[in-house]
Amino acid sequence: MKILVVGSGGREHALAWKLAQSERIQTVYVAPGNGGTACDNRLKNVPITDLNALAEFVQKEHVGLTVVGPEVPLAAGIVDLFREQGLKIFGPTREAAQLESSKDFAKAFMQRHGIPTAAYQTFSDAALAHAYIEAQGAPIVIKADGLAAGKGVVVAMNLQEAHDAVESMLAGNLLGDAGARIVIEEFLAGEEASFIVMVDGKNILPLATSQDHKRLLDNDQGPNTGGMGAYSPAPIITPELHARVIREIIQPTVQGMARDGIVFTGFLYAGLMIDAKGNPKTLEFNCRMGDPETQPIMARLKTDFVSVLEHAISGQLDSIELEWDRRTALGVVMAAQGYPDAPVKGAHITGIPAETADCIVFHAGTHSDHGTFSVSGGRVLCAVGLGDNIKVAQKHAYEAVDAIKFDGAQARRDIGWRALKKPVR
Ligand code: AMP
Ligand code: GLY
Repeated sequence: MKILVVGSGGREHALAWKLAQSERIQTVYVAPGNGGTACDNRLKNVPITDLNALAEFVQKEHVGLTVVGPEVPLAAGIVDLFREQGLKIFGPTREAAQLESSKDFAKAFMQRHGIPTAAYQTFSDAALAHAYIEAQGAPIVIKADGLAAGKGVVVAMNLQEAHDAVESMLAGNLLGDAGARIVIEEFLAGEEASFIVMVDGKNILPLATSQDHKRLLDNDQGPNTGGMGAYSPAPIITPELHARVIREIIQPTVQGMARDGIVFTGFLYAGLMIDAKGNPKTLEFNCRMGDPETQPIMARLKTDFVSVLEHAISGQLDSIELEWDRRTALGVVMAAQGYPDAPVKGAHITGIPAETADCIVFHAGTHSDHGTFSVSGGRVLCAVGLGDNIKVAQKHAYEAVDAIKFDGAQARRDIGWRALKKPVR
């Protein structure tokens, strides 16, 4: 069987890497892919991003199954388009993807269905937004309504920052249509975790737990990014909290969507904030897997992922169980100089170690020229280490990071610090 992974990041490299391990797979296509997927002889890059052209490619090549990595093609309706043509694809429809593509949709949905989340209001009028901020006080959080590639959220610690955010999003139109409406919400304190499940319309299959590091710099300082590192499992998600998140957040979301007339299929990723007492609230929904969470999660998955996707597409997620490597996997992102604001492309990359039983380097923003790699995007690589505990996993990941060289490389040195602080399980 042939399979198609849509996207070009580290998440897609990890998905394709895992799918290629299945004995039933002839070719894994990655569209458009990156330098790493180009160099793996079990994978084949396809230089197509137009959705109609992708559907045509799938018809022509008899691709049996498509899985979508990023949010943009989902929000553009790739699942609807493929299904109309009778093509098998795993992901949410355009309507369902609004849980991610519109913060206002997601907040109204959560409020309507009693799903725990921060209190909020939506604005398109700047004067009303400023007045609301004055009435609420700081800290307070300002979010662009639409997709903004991780740049649409300002956690304002004082009133000035909050007013400035409103000005640039609403008045300054800095984010274009994505910021034409904004959500202003209550600041939540606590620890974040990524809670990712697969949904087949009815059944829910949780993936291994994970946590990522959103800030650019050590000690969670600096600007927000797409994620500078992640690990799995996340010790903060105890079995009790896991059961609670399923009961209070995930099930009501899937059922609430159905009640609103929208069948949810695809990965559902709830970004959680867990307060000091251990109570979870939903910060956001994504309708896809996380990047870089996917890299450590796929590194730990033992079950044949092709079979998992087939069960998901045929509505049978209740009849499959996932088996996980008991080790911890920890991924450290290496980013380009100038990331996240203005990544510098073109640097020559050397020293990427070959895959071993306890380390895999997934590519993201890389370009390959006959096996010579250069930087082509913001997040460049993600080195995943595996080990019997977080400390060993971290050591293996940083051994790879230390071997890899490119001009201006940025990597945090403290990925996993929260889990390291927790008592050993
Ligand atoms: P989002 O895209 O909504 O997940 O927001 C990006 C990041 O902003 C989150 O990962 C949090 O670190 C932070 N954030 C978002 N909403 C809140 C909130 N209500 N309180 C505190 N931090 C938040
Ligand atoms: N790592 C965060 C995200 O994928 O949205």
